[in-house]
Amino acid sequence: MSTLPKILVTSAAGKTGRHVCLQLLEKGYPVRAIVRRSDSRSEELARAGAEIHVGNQYALSEMRKAMDGVQRAYQCAPTAPNGLHFNAVFTAAVHEARLEHVVTLGQWLSSVDHPSLFTREVYVSDILIRMPAGLSVTSVNPGWFADNYLMVLDMAAHLGLFAMPLGRGDRKKNAPPSNEDIASVAVASLIDPELHSGKTYRPTGPELLSPDEIAGAMGRALGRKVSYMDISEKMMTKALRAHPPSNYSEAAVSQLALYAEEYRRGAFAVNAPTRDVELVGGRIPETFESIVRRTVAARPDLKTNLFKRLGGLAAFARIVLTPALDVNRIQDMRDYVRLSAPSFSQDTPEWLQTHSGKPAAVEHRQAS
Ligand SMILES: NC(=O)c1ccc[n+]([C@@H]2O[C@H](COP(=O)([O-])OP(=O)(O)OC[C@H]3O[C@@H](n4cnc5c(N)ncnc54)[C@H](OP(=O)(O)O)[C@@H]3O)[C@@H](O)[C@H]2O)c1
Repeated sequence: MSTLPKILVTSAAGKTGRHVCLQLLEKGYPVRAIVRRSDSRSEELARAGAEIHVGNQYALSEMRKAMDGVQRAYQCAPTAPNGLHFNAVFTAAVHEARLEHVVTLGQWLSSVDHPSLFTREVYVSDILIRMPAGLSVTSVNPGWFADNYLMVLDMAAHLGLFAMPLGRGDRKKNAPPSNEDIASVAVASLIDPELHSGKTYRPTGPELLSPDEIAGAMGRALGRKVSYMDISEKMMTKALRAHPPSNYSEAAVSQLALYAEEYRRGAFAVNAPTRDVELVGGRIPETFESIVRRTVAARPDLKTNLFKRLGGLAAFARIVLTPALDVNRIQDMRDYVRLSAPSFSQDTPEWLQTHSGKPAAVEHRQAS
């Protein structure tokens, strides 16, 4: 039996949770992975040696069972509504089970009066997880993941278009980290609390890239020309509605529109890149081009031909014909708490003090 502490990984089938599990197991740590259903992803984790706990991580009774006999945990709220509920349940269970150390996945944007309810919930959750007596905490606060761009890789492959509402194509606005690199910083912090307790890290990719450069990297990986197209938020919601990514609800999309605005404002460019992946995670941060090449190699369906190009055109037509989402109406319908005077990260003095010292606004465009 292992004498190493057992580590609970929440959202274990998700983008970062999966790699946190695999990297911990590779280092010999016993892992309990909480997933909501058994499928090929949980089977992969079980094959790698994880103990699989199928359950609802939003339910305190389930979380109590999942924490029984574990000493440390990775806290990862899904990109979905009720994040604060998940984090409150997680914190209550951590408190009862007297865990010794938690690594929490937060957000670079996290600020007190942010227009995004999800982001304000992260801010409050960061305070809550620091309340249980005797618990040490490390925060991992990434910005916009590289994975987000991969959502539109099919259109790049078949139509040569990288379409997102990211503003001007020539401004360097993000240093996107891979899911594996984000996980490496979380894993290092989970296995050495003494070194990482009380610290906040922000994993990034190796360099700031402009949307044109992101399109260029996609083009080189796909072996075709890919051009960036700056689209409106309205168009983005049409696309997400016409071809919904399996893991994003309309409520989550309403928040993505706010993150796109932060992107254009340059919030993800502030103080990026960092050396946290190298210095904490112990790896050379992966370039965006290498991330896309890996994805392309794993997806033979991205090889284009006439039929797929015609399919791409049909998919594009479906986007144009799909009505846009009214993101304000969605937030009202869900009774999202709205602020009378919300403040983007760089307009918040406390955020500037803790994140940069000076604003680096790039562009402003009103959300449509
Ligand atoms: N994406 C970004 O650019 C970005 C940037 C900064 C911070 N973040 C933060 O990243 C976090 C999300 O991390 P991630 O992308 O690694 O996670 P993720 O991919 O959203 O994964 C969430 C996982 O939780 C599972 N899940 C959902 N509801 C569940 C339930 N009731 N019981 C058990 N499992 C459940 C999902 O299962 P299924 O897969 O089966 O649905 C999914 O596998 C968010 O807190 C967000 O604030 C994201």
